[in-house]
Amino acid sequence: MRRTVAKAERAGLSVGDYLESYSSAPGATTSTVEAVLRLGGLPEGVERVCEIGPGSGRYASLVMSALRPRVYEVYETASDWIRYLREKFPQILVQPADGHTLEHTATASVDLVHSHKLFNYIPFVATLGYLAEMARVVRPGGVVAFDVMTEDCLDDAMTATWFAHPERGMIYALTPRPWMLDFFAERDLDLLGNQFVPLAGVRTELLVFRRR
Ligand SMILES: C[S@@+](CC[C@H](N)C(=O)[O-])C[C@H]1O[C@@H](n2cnc3c(N)ncnc32)[C@H](O)[C@@H]1O
Repeated sequence: MRRTVAKAERAGLSVGDYLESYSSAPGATTSTVEAVLRLGGLPEGVERVCEIGPGSGRYASLVMSALRPRVYEVYETASDWIRYLREKFPQILVQPADGHTLEHTATASVDLVHSHKLFNYIPFVATLGYLAEMARVVRPGGVVAFDVMTEDCLDDAMTATWFAHPERGMIYALTPRPWMLDFFAERDLDLLGNQFVPLAGVRTELLVFRRR
């Protein structure tokens, strides 16, 4: 956290813009949030939003401005980012995070549960826990949104890069797309739409679901 904030300051950028400049593409955060809001169709003034792995809060800030939820809660495992979030966004409720569940959030209580640039980095077993928990906590009519690296992200450029430089691909975990769609369909979640999101020379797929 300290290194990221210091580098952003040296570059004269906000932390969010700095993160975009080296790990994504300018405007990618805004475009992701716009897609979640457009596809999800949630009104301003919702009751509760939950985010997993918010880091600097660059998505939280945009979603809070757009939806003005009564409660914005996060599950974040890094203590330094938790300190940073508490200072920058004192209104955020930081829930104790065990790394794979949303155990402090009631079933069917959340209007929007979302996560970005997390599930492509953690072991699939932890992603599986979070996917099941997102399906549990979202209310009927509520929205689940996240990006994952699916097989549809694997274009020729990406596999050629990984073949030539395996060290660049080692950090990523893939989530199988057909399995995931079945997993959510069995939990009353329908896919509303998707969008590819750039990530340091590769890409992830943003998926947005609504609970029946
Ligand atoms: C790559 S960063 C992305 C941060 C933010 N979503 C963004 O895109 O700017 C991943 C974030 O998730 C947090 N994290 C890592 N593993 C986690 C887990 N198992 N549960 C919750 N948060 C986690 C990290 O501390 C970090 O803040």
